Amino acid sequence: MRGKFVTFEGCEGSGKSTQLRFLGEYLMETGVDFIMTREPGGSPIAEDIRKIILNGSYTEMCDECEALLYAAARLQHLKEVVEPALSAGKLVICDRYVDSSFAYQGYARGLGAEFIKKINSFALEKYPPDLTVFLDISPQDAFARKHGADLSDRMEKMGLEFHQRVYEGYKKLQKEYPRFVAVDCSGTKFETAENIKELLKAKDIIK
Ligand code: TYD
Repeated sequence: MRGKFVTFEGCEGSGKSTQLRFLGEYLMETGVDFIMTREPGGSPIAEDIRKIILNGSYTEMCDECEALLYAAARLQHLKEVVEPALSAGKLVICDRYVDSSFAYQGYARGLGAEFIKKINSFALEKYPPDLTVFLDISPQDAFARKHGADLSDRMEKMGLEFHQRVYEGYKKLQKEYPRFVAVDCSGTKFETAENIKELLKAKDIIK
């Protein structure tokens, strides 16, 4: 049987990395056959594209170029990593996917959803996620929790106003796509981890 595809989304500092680490440990303990991967990156070519996108000195990169590079890295990663794992029946957990492009490039950068849909048609048509887990925490709270951003990273350099738009973009996706489910992150990281497990069980992703 083909595996399931679950993606994780959230604003900077939403605790996504911590939650993915907790989930990875739980899936290992319970013997689930899974892979955990990330975007942009997850394969050698896509990781190289990631270095270009996130290079803090490339201030002249235009928004369309940025969106196309994310889409290029995505396609390579889908073909090289995601497809083989899904066809081997594995659960694929991916840290960010096409919804990041909708929220960051489409909404916050202002390229619009239609442009993002067009350049990501392969991903959207062939690889729609079975479930997208959105770690729902406002950028203000996320920044406060993260104790500052990594300012050598081109995306993290963007101010709070940009990240607020990203958050609004995500909230729009939540209304539009039933697969896009928000998880409340206002409690402790352990409570959030429980919320995520419950959601994965309720959606029949894990037992
Ligand atoms: P990363 O350091 O992995 O951020 P995080 O830990 O918050 O996931 O960097 C990924 C950055 O790329 C992040 O700022 C979000 C951004 N991004 C987009 O803007 N569009 C996309 O399509 C993807 C996949 C990521």
